[in-house]
Amino acid sequence: MNHLLGIEGMQRSEIEAVLNLADDYAGKVRSGEKIEAVLDGFTMINLFFENSTRTRTSFELAGKRLGAAVTNMSVVSSSIKKGETLTDTALTLRAMHTDILVVRHQCSGAVKLLSEKVGCSVVNAGDGSHEHPTQAFLDALTIQRRKGKLQGLEVAICGDIMHSRVARSNIHLLQTMGARVRLVAPPTLMPPDIEKFGPQIYHDMKQGLKDCDIVMMLRLQTERMQGNYVPSVREYYHFYGLTREKLANAKQDALIMHPGPMNRGVEIDSELADDIHRSLIQEQVEMGVAVRMASLALIGKAIKARKAIKLQDKD
Ligand code: CP
Repeated sequence: MNHLLGIEGMQRSEIEAVLNLADDYAGKVRSGEKIEAVLDGFTMINLFFENSTRTRTSFELAGKRLGAAVTNMSVVSSSIKKGETLTDTALTLRAMHTDILVVRHQCSGAVKLLSEKVGCSVVNAGDGSHEHPTQAFLDALTIQRRKGKLQGLEVAICGDIMHSRVARSNIHLLQTMGARVRLVAPPTLMPPDIEKFGPQIYHDMKQGLKDCDIVMMLRLQTERMQGNYVPSVREYYHFYGLTREKLANAKQDALIMHPGPMNRGVEIDSELADDIHRSLIQEQVEMGVAVRMASLALIGKAIKARKAIKLQDKD
């Protein structure tokens, strides 16, 4: 991997390579086993144009655990506020001999554009409503570790599909790995033509959750909404908020997920979100670090291979 920009187009074997390495790292972190500093001598910069708690912190921890020098660039106090463009900012950071740029941006496609302009590896930490590849990896790893497989599972992704990069990355990854994906949302929050990517479409929670193995809830992304997509939050919760009553339609051992941040009492009942027998939400956060370690380690390997080829060419 030179860059990690999205899940769409990735082969099953490539996804498995990330998940297997991440599973290994998850075990090592849990047991306190020593982790090889495969990114020793590498420099990595987190460049986040949107707010983040989980993704930014876990990329920072992942980079440091692998021995990289990691810097978080503060966008609000940067020269972007003086009018510097995204590309000029990235080129400036690259000139400081940065090896890996981890970028979150509000515009779909912005991270790919950067990867074509800067001469270093770029990782997509979420671009608009397009993709959030490491979120899909961490979701898949969490499911795989608890259910022992992805193949054949029924996964219901529910809520604001329209604005969700998490949903898009998960649709591609889960289906490539043999799971069946259902999308459940009010018509106003269901993107047109989304069924062409393969998922089944539902507008009713009872039908959409029937006999599923995993229920993945999504946040209402009001920051991306122009106008009203739901009549009221109270009505939305009534029809689409996950409660024990609605969950009873899923399999008895169905598990609940949420990428966070969570709006308790809007898309999910607060007590249900904290139920350690049903909710995987904290485990998703834990797997986030392991998945980002695996992604960075594989990118580091590709950078080392490129450098070795360049040296050979010089000789
Ligand atoms: N799931 C996720 O991307 O969370 P953050 O916005 O906190 O990074």
